[in-house]
Amino acid sequence: MSKEKSKQAAALKALEWVEDGMVLGLGSGTTSHHFIRGLIKKFQQGLTIQAIASSEESETLAQSGGIPLLDMTQVSSLDLTVDGADEIDPQKRMIKGAGGALVREKILASMSREMVVIVDSSKLVDTLGQAPLPIEVIPFGVSATIGRLEKLSLQGTLRGGSAPFLTDNGNYIYDARLPPHLENPESLHLQLVQIPGVVDTGFFFGLAGRVVIGQEDGTVMVKD
Ligand code: 5RP
Repeated sequence: MSKEKSKQAAALKALEWVEDGMVLGLGSGTTSHHFIRGLIKKFQQGLTIQAIASSEESETLAQSGGIPLLDMTQVSSLDLTVDGADEIDPQKRMIKGAGGALVREKILASMSREMVVIVDSSKLVDTLGQAPLPIEVIPFGVSATIGRLEKLSLQGTLRGGSAPFLTDNGNYIYDARLPPHLENPESLHLQLVQIPGVVDTGFFFGLAGRVVIGQEDGTVMVKD
């Protein structure tokens, strides 16, 4: 069974936890899109839900299926957010943001009673940092900001190079390579968010609730 099928299996499991009347946070990326497509089916069969999307892409997908989308300025809490991850360690610490939606994803996760994480087994790591850490930075003064990141020994690349990738917030993403045995990601995150120009990092701590891991054989494992 392909990786896509594993992602779909994880997404379908999370759909079982969606209840009538819920206000949902919708994640971004291919796994979240499997979830949104499943949600559209359930909505069209009569499930009553409202949602807020973490990216314009996910919003467009949800809108295409008629899912009622709320205005973010009028919502302060969510029942459930379902989102993917780029890496997740045994303590459910994550790296997210390969799709560039990390800031909105973190806002939705932090507003939710629970963030359900849906991944395929390739996302499980012992130590965070196998994938680059996306860091959202403001375009103004980006060279100085990158210089400061490099001074912390975080070599990396500006996503998109000379035609930088723009997030939905109008910012850039710096993809930083992390040291091979990163012992204290929490402390690194705190250092990074103190740099003027850094909006947020793709580290997600203390946010993951249930983690659904789609397996290659189509079954799922749920970590409570
Ligand atoms: C986007 C994200 C995604 O959740 C993450 O990149 C996982 O994506 P996929 O489900 O396509 O593997 O953080 O910003």
